[in-house]
Amino acid sequence: MYDDAAHGALQQSARDHLWMHFTRMSSYDTADVPVIVRGEGAYVWDSRGRKYLDALGGLFVSQLGHGRTDLAEAAAKQAAELAFFPLWSYAHPTAIELAEKIAGYAPGDLNRVFFTSGGGEAVESAWKLAKNYFKLVGKPMKHKVISRAIAYHGTTAGALSITGLPGLKQQFEPLVPSTFRVPNTNIYRAPSFLAGADGTVDPETFGRWAADQVAVAIEAEGPDTVAAVFLEPVQNAGGCFPPPPGYFQRVREICDEYDVLLVSDEVICAYGRLGHMFGAERYGYQPDIITSAKGITSGYAPLGAMIVSDRLYEPFAHGTETFLHGYTFGGHPVSTAVALKNFEVFEDEKVLEGVREREGAFRGTLEKLLDLPIVGDVRGDGYFYGIELVKDKSTKESFDEAESERLLRGFLSKALFDAGLYCRADDRGDPVIQLSPPLVCDQAHFDEIEEKLRSVLTEAVALL
Ligand SMILES: Cc1ncc(COP(=O)(O)O)c(C=O)c1O
Repeated sequence: MYDDAAHGALQQSARDHLWMHFTRMSSYDTADVPVIVRGEGAYVWDSRGRKYLDALGGLFVSQLGHGRTDLAEAAAKQAAELAFFPLWSYAHPTAIELAEKIAGYAPGDLNRVFFTSGGGEAVESAWKLAKNYFKLVGKPMKHKVISRAIAYHGTTAGALSITGLPGLKQQFEPLVPSTFRVPNTNIYRAPSFLAGADGTVDPETFGRWAADQVAVAIEAEGPDTVAAVFLEPVQNAGGCFPPPPGYFQRVREICDEYDVLLVSDEVICAYGRLGHMFGAERYGYQPDIITSAKGITSGYAPLGAMIVSDRLYEPFAHGTETFLHGYTFGGHPVSTAVALKNFEVFEDEKVLEGVREREGAFRGTLEKLLDLPIVGDVRGDGYFYGIELVKDKSTKESFDEAESERLLRGFLSKALFDAGLYCRADDRGDPVIQLSPPLVCDQAHFDEIEEKLRSVLTEAVALL
């Protein structure tokens, strides 16, 4: 804990020099910058000694929770032995071992692993590979990408172009051209023409319709020009949209029909978040590429990975063909050593099995919140949930911009944090609270999340 003088100096220094990501900096002109100094298990502490339940896993990252000395020691050991060497024409043992391990976990013939330093770079790499691949197999016009409305795929120019959030993109236009959006799988807000006579929407009908929109977009753009479709197993932005039954199976059929690559962007969903190594495994579909990052090291070091099918790798396996792409820190030795330790712990402590055993209890606990008038929908899978907030539950009416600003930025984010709960109040789509706790959380943590949410949301209702 920092004493008053040290706290004050840290605050001043943060205000003077640190530029926080996606942060309205003026919020901290007078308010304290929250400074997190340590963590243990599912909890973190700030510089004033206050304790918070980390219900977002940092940023969908901390699968094993905080403060594990085994992962820290794996990092230290590797740094002492070989702190850095690039993967540019050279290799090092932990990258080799990790590539083999991930290929073993990955579904089907996804046998080739290209390391990056994070998720956006994995997405960027996947688009570049898709374009490069089609040029090599005699379909040079195939370059466009289809992705879903409100989906987030990263901030680099290509990944941001694939992102479906206009508000994040406009200030950086013109971005990379050639990306197109299709509807996402938010069944809570399914188009009314899909509703049956009783007013409800059948999930399979909705899934079929949503998947077919991918074919409509491919046809509209011209099948000869479309290279890939990028989809998360469960879409995060907008507040956790799981796939309706049959959705991915139909998308796979469409991709096969038009020779379009299916990229499963699992930057959040991989490595246990949904109780499996990959979301594709949970929902039973075969991607051509998986992009991943975050939970691969449980956050003890930065790392991303693009996992590629034998078919896509094949043209690069011969002669002079080279994928002219890479990152200095992609597959950093310390990060790959940490990832290996992370997976060892997953296996030793049966982490995925634990998520599968407890996910029903997590859902059940969160669903208790549905009795609050402001909670419209609780949705997700595994340890990954979104809670949609509404103004009127019966009509599903959402908040307008000014109300959202007042509710989410003005009240909820701070009130939740003050209550000792770190999670995310997000209005990139309709207003939602996002939860992605460490995979080691149990019923006591679920109860604490529910109690704190209930208390703060009850206060929010009173403010409306
Ligand atoms: C689905 C998805 N793709 C890509 C990214 C970008 O990852 P990074 O922030 O590591 O670049 C994110 C980040 O949250 C993500 O959720």
